[in-house]
Amino acid sequence: MIVLGVESSCDETGLALYDTQRGLLAHALYSQVAMHEEYGGVVPELASRDHIRRAIPLLEQVLTQAALPRNAVDAIAYTQGPGLAGALLVGASIACGLGLALDRPVLGVHHLEGHLLSPLLAGDRPDFPFVALLISGGHTQLMRVDGVGQYELLGETLDDAAGEAFDKSAKLLGLGYPGGPAISRLAEFGDPGTYQLPRPMLHSKDLNFSFSGLKTAVLTLVKKQTVNICEQDKANIARAFVDAIVDVLVAKCLAALKQTGLKRLVIAGGVGANRQLREALNAAAQKKRFRVYYPELEFCTDNGAMIAFAGAMRLQINPDAAKREYAFNVRPR
Ligand code: KG4
Ligand code: ZN
Repeated sequence: MIVLGVESSCDETGLALYDTQRGLLAHALYSQVAMHEEYGGVVPELASRDHIRRAIPLLEQVLTQAALPRNAVDAIAYTQGPGLAGALLVGASIACGLGLALDRPVLGVHHLEGHLLSPLLAGDRPDFPFVALLISGGHTQLMRVDGVGQYELLGETLDDAAGEAFDKSAKLLGLGYPGGPAISRLAEFGDPGTYQLPRPMLHSKDLNFSFSGLKTAVLTLVKKQTVNICEQDKANIARAFVDAIVDVLVAKCLAALKQTGLKRLVIAGGVGANRQLREALNAAAQKKRFRVYYPELEFCTDNGAMIAFAGAMRLQINPDAAKREYAFNVRPR
């Protein structure tokens, strides 16, 4: 069975073809980052309009890459939410329009399930069950995953998501959008220990997170610099921020592994691309004897491959999950 995946929840248009026999056949992505950069964040209306421009050429691109005609597609999976309403509507209408034209069933996929299952696209894929840390721009969740569709929420953020904390702190330091990769790069030049930032909820007995205080602490530090903040100081603050957030994320993963008794940890979502976090988790895994799995770097942030894959996994469990019903509905929240 060949599933076409369509992702358009935010500022990336992703199309992909996944074959349940042969694996990922093709994927193509267009990132709108350059377009939103000058506004310091995603402008929803611009995002929707750009998805319209990009989606069909990307579809042609994946079909060409896979050397397949359109009618080789057996089912179409699209991101139904969460995300920006207008952006989601573009992907949904394209998926449903294609489904109607080709007489193929369509299936709405939860964006976070796409992220959650993305590490299973890697060569070295984890077996179930595992603990998953889902860290994206909008969400921070720890989950116990027993199989496709079998998810138990263990803990989540009470306020800002991890990616949001990266982005907002980066903005305070005058770094561009998206701030996560930028603050991470700058932190490499910072001196550890110059500044100490709080590690919110590090010792709370639950598996929840809270990152808004960390962002406020960064703001306070930035404000304290009476004269113009110098580059080295920026790097030192970036370093303090990254060290604090990584400490919290690693500690909560260890607590989740302990609570569940599991020995496999899966990291998913955009912040999963973070280098310092990966280094800290790899070191903890060696020390505490568990295994940690990541998606391929290109599948950490939004992409169509994870949506095609999640759709295919859903359809393997229940072939009726996709329907020839083309009146679509998106779920921004
Ligand atoms: O999963 P994702 O692409 O989109 C959502 O579903 O939200 O995640 C985007 C988030 C952004 O906040 C971005 O700054 C962050 O992931 N991010 C990173 C890195 N790469 C992306 N954060 C820290 N370090 C990175 N290398
Ligand atoms: Zn995402």
